Amino acid sequence: MSRTKLRGAVVGYGFISSAGHIPAYLKRSQEVGDVEIVALADVSPERRKLAQQTLPGARIYGDYEALVRAEASNLDFLDIATPPLYHAAIADAALSAGLHVLCEKPLTFTVEEARLLLNHAKSTERVLYPCHNYKHAPMIKKIREIVRSGRIGKVRSVTLNTYRDTHAKGVAEWNSDWRRYRRYSGGGIGVDHGSHSFYLAFEWLGSYPTAVTAKVSNLQPGRYDTEDDFAAIVTFPTGLAHLHLTWTAGTRRLVYTLHGEAGVITMHDDHLAIETADGAVERLTMPLHFADSSHASWFNSLFDDFREAIECGDFAGKEAEQAVLCVQVIDTAYRSAREESRELPITD
Ligand SMILES: NC(=O)c1ccc[n+]([C@@H]2O[C@H](COP(=O)([O-])OP(=O)(O)OC[C@H]3O[C@@H](n4cnc5c(N)ncnc54)[C@H](O)[C@@H]3O)[C@@H](O)[C@H]2O)c1
Repeated sequence: MSRTKLRGAVVGYGFISSAGHIPAYLKRSQEVGDVEIVALADVSPERRKLAQQTLPGARIYGDYEALVRAEASNLDFLDIATPPLYHAAIADAALSAGLHVLCEKPLTFTVEEARLLLNHAKSTERVLYPCHNYKHAPMIKKIREIVRSGRIGKVRSVTLNTYRDTHAKGVAEWNSDWRRYRRYSGGGIGVDHGSHSFYLAFEWLGSYPTAVTAKVSNLQPGRYDTEDDFAAIVTFPTGLAHLHLTWTAGTRRLVYTLHGEAGVITMHDDHLAIETADGAVERLTMPLHFADSSHASWFNSLFDDFREAIECGDFAGKEAEQAVLCVQVIDTAYRSAREESRELPITD
């Protein structure tokens, strides 16, 4: 049975859009045929030119409002791939125009904006779905399978370390250092990698956090106003998550550990070790693609879930709720850091 073709538009043709989302849509459109990108908006004339070359049949706009006005009746969904400052306004306009929304992380700048969007998705009965793409990495799927099998028992503690030797750069045609300016990003590496770390911790610990204590530092305070080092301990009813996210490391590396009552999983980039209480150790190597920050190969799996949410009418589902919670944990962590790392509750 052939599937309905979803017609989409993308706002933002920067790094993640041009290297991740659009290549994945084009591939899917050729191989599965259930999606087509018919329009795109970007404020940069140079980026619009490049977008037109990649999507010759699409209509290209200089701002999202013009796109939504002209195209809404012709569209099913809007994909938001701009810096975080603009996410809430664009998502709000799309929901108001009756479109489903796929939005890059973090969902919004503020907790209030995130909650408003969630309610807006419920009232308009349109899907709000975050790009929590790490959940779709083959290695993370493998970890999910091992945890679900009960092999390491109940997970009681997780560590999530993200090491980068610089902040991720946006495309040169707009403002490649926007992540280092609070007015565009809302924060430094805590915002940039916090969502990935927190939604994985929710899953692995099997509950939602109740408190956080955090510390941040900025090695270039005269130049930038966001942190390049972020550490947090997050309390869950089932255990603790320890996070260390840094843009000041000598290398690019991702190291996660999950400590269960009957064993430990250690993920070191492409390598996974599973050690169980009986002394057995299994080692696996998988193509994780973490080195390629476009994560294009994970997008297809994420889009399957977005599609399913549309088909099931799961408008403001678990993923959207977790995206709101990620914004809330990040916000509470920054408040803790400002208050000398005092532990603060994460309230409902
Ligand atoms: N999930 C992931 O793994 C992942 C990886 C990278 C980036 N991201 C997210 O993707 C988003 C974009 O990041 P990026 O690295 O692609 O940034 P980027 O700077 O490379 O691209 C941003 C693009 O948006 C355009 N733009 C800026 N303001 C706009 C507006 N108001 N309307 C329309 N277009 C506008 C810019 O011209 C630019 O082309 C961010 O939210 C970031 O956190 C996610």
